[in-house]
Amino acid sequence: MRYPVVLRTPRLILRHWKAGDELEIAEQYQYASNPKVAEASGWSAYNDIEQCRRYHDTVQARDPECFAIIYKRTGLPIGSIAFKTMPKKISLALGHDPSRCREVGYWLGEPHWGRGFMPEALEALLKHGFDELGLDIVYAKHLLGNSRSRTVLERCGFTYDHTEHGNTSAQLHKRMDEDVLTLSAQAWRMRREQRPLAGRLRTSAYWDANPKITAHPQC
Ligand SMILES: CC(C)(COP(=O)(O)OP(=O)(O)OC[C@H]1O[C@@H](n2cnc3c(N)ncnc32)[C@H](O)[C@@H]1OP(=O)(O)O)[C@@H](O)C(=O)NCCC(=O)NCCS
Repeated sequence: MRYPVVLRTPRLILRHWKAGDELEIAEQYQYASNPKVAEASGWSAYNDIEQCRRYHDTVQARDPECFAIIYKRTGLPIGSIAFKTMPKKISLALGHDPSRCREVGYWLGEPHWGRGFMPEALEALLKHGFDELGLDIVYAKHLLGNSRSRTVLERCGFTYDHTEHGNTSAQLHKRMDEDVLTLSAQAWRMRREQRPLAGRLRTSAYWDANPKITAHPQC
């Protein structure tokens, strides 16, 4: 039985995608048909809304660890963030229990870039992952040169681990060189303890005025 998980931050709500919701499909299509968003994420931009509807209804809406990023002010999705299970042999080779490690992936509509939304969403998902799912470690990969994503990951406590050359993207039909960063539960908890209490209780007006500061939502 999948129970609905809803995560809240000062400006955002992370909730599951809703199968058949035409409004959110249309909102997602306008953002995910932008090559600047798609190719930086390692997939090809949607050519038509039917492609978007199919992926939305048959994959995203059925995935308990895939979340629509809803902007509270409009009630509309502005991006997506998800935990992905890592191939068993890889997590075992890295010395992890496969059920306690994930890779995180995310994208945001271009009009919403630069306001600190993704660090805010990622902090909420990490709290859910480490506190509720009992994860030991989270991996993240970004294409070499994707400094935007690198900034988001480092702002949330991830550190560089290694670089992979020649990873294949089924959709982009090209080889990709990616940096791999990691964040362990231990490092996340230490970082949370170091955070000043005051910073945890600010209002959304504060976050709009200070988009570059990431918040540990409701911790
Ligand atoms: C990467 C991404 C999620 C960043 O989200 P965000 O909410 O804009 O993150 P931030 O507001 O914290 O900005 C992070 C950095 O991006 C850069 N940036 C922000 N807005 C930008 C814009 N409009 N144009 C260019 N760069 C921008 C800035 O360097 C910023 O760093 P700074 O705060 O030190 O100046 C978003 O750019 C995105 O979805 N990109 C396309 C998909 C993608 O790359 N996904 C990740 C794959 S690994």
